[in-house]
Amino acid sequence: MAVHLLVLNGPNLNRLDLREKSFYGDIDYQDICAAVDNAAQELGFSADIRQSNDEAELISWLHEAAEKKIPVIFNPAAFTHYSYAIRDAVVMLKAPCIEVHISNPLSREEFRHTSVVSGVVAGTIAGFGLDSYRLAIRAMKGLLGN
Ligand code: DQA
Repeated sequence: MAVHLLVLNGPNLNRLDLREKSFYGDIDYQDICAAVDNAAQELGFSADIRQSNDEAELISWLHEAAEKKIPVIFNPAAFTHYSYAIRDAVVMLKAPCIEVHISNPLSREEFRHTSVVSGVVAGTIAGFGLDSYRLAIRAMKGLLGN
């Protein structure tokens, strides 16, 4: 039976096609959904992929994942850099969480060099475009023991 996986995406990732191509490449949110779906299916996961521009909604999805003990792959987008509320919700998760970024925040503006989330997740994968999500799904498979 497929293992349930929650893939959460933060603000502005639904408008990737309108953002800086030099950082995000030529992809849109549907490309993320397709890449995640394919990789998940290949590795025996059923992925529930969600995006929100609303911090409160992301937090309520993290609460849901905690209650149901669902593993999470999470691109918190700009909330990565300053949302202690998101960090506190990640701490409460019961199954592993992997942080993902399409771009490499460490090669960008200084404010992106801080992640308030990195310290409370199993690991972070950044800078590989859609492959960041594929690699995270692969890593999640390993974390869950197969
Ligand atoms: C991002 C990197 C963040 O710094 C930025 O605010 C985003 C996207 C990424 O996937 O590369 O919105 O999380």
